Amino acid sequence: MPKVTFVHPDSRRQTVEIAAGRTIMEAAVNNNVSGIEADCGGSCACATCHVYIEPDFLSKLNAPSEGEAAMLEFAVNPRENSRLSCCITVNYDVDGITVNLPESQY
Ligand code: FES
Repeated sequence: MPKVTFVHPDSRRQTVEIAAGRTIMEAAVNNNVSGIEADCGGSCACATCHVYIEPDFLSKLNAPSEGEAAMLEFAVNPRENSRLSCCITVNYDVDGITVNLPESQY
């Protein structure tokens, strides 16, 4: 299964596996990775699954949809590499994707 590495604000790294076709948010929630709240359950309607994508992987992802881009405006401290993790499907093309968790989702 593809792997996802989460980097916590204290630099602690946590690598988990997720079935291809599932999202980064699900990889976090299913593996008790702290820092992803996912209040809306993955409907792209809350921005509490905000992450920062490592630059090496940004170009491998599709651009955010209009809905994701609009919701990202509600993320705390958004940056150019901000994404909503429920909107990113993991497959073998992005195996090993590394995302940084924000200090807070609120
Ligand atoms: S879980 Fe709500 S926007 Fe991603």
